Amino acid sequence: MEDLSKPSFEVILTPALIPLYDLKGKTAIIIDILRATSSMCVAFEYGVRNIIPVSHVEDAIIHRKSGLKAAAERDGQKVDGFDFGNSPFDFMIDDLNGQSLVMTTTNGTKAIHLSSKAEKMYIGSFLNLQAVADKIITENKPVVAICSGWKDRFNLEDALFAGALASQVSHVFDLNDDSTIAAIALWNTAQSNLEAFMKNASHAQRFERLGIDRDIQFCLQQSIYPFVPEVANGMIKIDAETGNNI
Ligand code: MLT
Repeated sequence: MEDLSKPSFEVILTPALIPLYDLKGKTAIIIDILRATSSMCVAFEYGVRNIIPVSHVEDAIIHRKSGLKAAAERDGQKVDGFDFGNSPFDFMIDDLNGQSLVMTTTNGTKAIHLSSKAEKMYIGSFLNLQAVADKIITENKPVVAICSGWKDRFNLEDALFAGALASQVSHVFDLNDDSTIAAIALWNTAQSNLEAFMKNASHAQRFERLGIDRDIQFCLQQSIYPFVPEVANGMIKIDAETGNNI
């Protein structure tokens, strides 16, 4: 039964469902485990100052022409002519320290733009799971976990993360939402052997075909980064000094 004394925690399982939810006054957690939100966290770990997420390759080209470094991915592959694709390993370099980065990906940056009605927007990945959980517990506001999915379809990895996050905050939030209950059940089934469970995921199989399956292992590591990137005014940032949101 709904517990009105606690803030709500809802899961939106694909971006196609976003219009069915009221995001006003809520904190959106944008989830694209393979790989956009994981790679964003890596870029911040390696000193990126801010990331400008854009939906279209054409917009990224315009930013790149103005001198910014740019990452572009479509269908799991780097778009020709860009500095980076979307592998977390692309961003493990010192060159990006203190730089702005433009990024466009098939689903992750699109989900960010579709969630603009939310009061606050954070970037979630397994890499910063604990930090996201701590932040939303402290803020104690209604949360919507938004799964970027694959071209508007459901995917396992984003729902798994939503379930992991919901489980971590279950003592504080009202989890009485069918999608949240499903995500937690999925997480409970998979958590003891996440990598093996993920072998069947469509995006994991796509990665195997593209020869980039080491990215999966990397992106499934839990809570190795202590910060929570925040999307505000068209830009994603963390506080470089404290590792906290600004
Ligand atoms: C996306 O935004 O669709 C992705 O993160 C896809 C990928 O690069 O794996």
